[in-house]
Amino acid sequence: MARINDNYLKLKAGYLFPEIARRVNAFAEANPKANIIRLGIGDVTEPLPEACRQAMIQAVQDMGERSRFKGYGPEQGYAWLREKIAQHDFQARGCAIDASEIFISDGSKCDTGNILDIFGKDNKIAVTDPVYPVYVDTNVMAGNTGDANDRGEYDGLVYLPITAENNFTAQIPNEKVDLIYLCFPNNPTGATATKAHLQDWVNYAKAHGSIIFFDAAYEAFITDPELPHSIYEIEGARDCAIEFRSFSKNAGFTGTRCALTVVPKTLKAKAQDGSEVELWKLWNRRQSTKFNGVSYIVQRGAEAVYSPEGQAQVQGLIKFYLENATIIREQLSAAGLTIYGGINAPYVWVKTPEGLSSWDFFDQLLEKVNVVGTPGSGFGAAGEGYFRISAFNSRENVEEAMRRITAKFSLT
Ligand code: MLT
Repeated sequence: MARINDNYLKLKAGYLFPEIARRVNAFAEANPKANIIRLGIGDVTEPLPEACRQAMIQAVQDMGERSRFKGYGPEQGYAWLREKIAQHDFQARGCAIDASEIFISDGSKCDTGNILDIFGKDNKIAVTDPVYPVYVDTNVMAGNTGDANDRGEYDGLVYLPITAENNFTAQIPNEKVDLIYLCFPNNPTGATATKAHLQDWVNYAKAHGSIIFFDAAYEAFITDPELPHSIYEIEGARDCAIEFRSFSKNAGFTGTRCALTVVPKTLKAKAQDGSEVELWKLWNRRQSTKFNGVSYIVQRGAEAVYSPEGQAQVQGLIKFYLENATIIREQLSAAGLTIYGGINAPYVWVKTPEGLSSWDFFDQLLEKVNVVGTPGSGFGAAGEGYFRISAFNSRENVEEAMRRITAKFSLT
């Protein structure tokens, strides 16, 4: 009989969001009249920007004309999109990133998992706790961990707790780690990192020959001009960091799929024989073997994000979701709940009321007020006692959810 990848058997239960969906669907089936409001998974609700839609319509027309028809595109993505990204997202902020260092993909979730293909098996890997579960689960699947303990922590991973005490930014480890996952603005806590904090990480990584995986999927929600949007705003980062970005949360592409990964050509890691190898070459090799690129139509849609109309429309979307976050923050604070995040991020991180675990609070919100959030413990052991509320929804739903929650759970 064929053998499976036994590492999959180490994974704890279901992936967090399908597990939530399973519980919500069971509740909905048993209570068909309940009007459930979903503030769980961070999935956008507002329509695609007009500029992106028009560009995609035009691209569909191109596909209907022999002279403009496109077959396979470049695996790395079309140069016209990569150049716009390099210019607007990086060079305009003083980051020396060239279009040739950008790889277009169908999602940051896929890329943060796939990147492990180009790294060896004996790396020491650090994640924050709580953390976006994809970073952990993909390492388990790749065989980079042992088994999980009762708290759900996998043997072999270094967990860096992020708590209210450290403003949800991890302490630089005392030991040497080779790969470090950082996400700012943070999913799930909504925390942000200053330039000084990121400089500490870059200094650490350079001193130890480590690589930082920097997930900047939520950078568009940064409104504070002092905060960095990219790790490459930090001196030395070109030599130690890979950055992941996405069109999902700024331009509403969660269903359309377009993202990018930056692998600077100066970035190196060691081969078994001790030689230093350019990671760009390996990632390029990996992508051109396993990936055929994002569709022409979608890349044209993403390109339109950088047009003046696209920029204005994306700003409108960001503003809208940040206003939702403000409503959530204000209402829950007024109800006496302790809250974090939600200022430069679309997630509000809520302390659960005294005596309620993360999943208790999830069940109570679902059953008593028919509102879905995400239990903090689903993001790691240190997330226990917290709950994430997403600002991605219509204004009406956010206001109604807050009315229901504050009516039932007010602590004042
Ligand atoms: C989340 O809710 O954490 C995100 O939607 C997950 C994702 O972007 O894959």
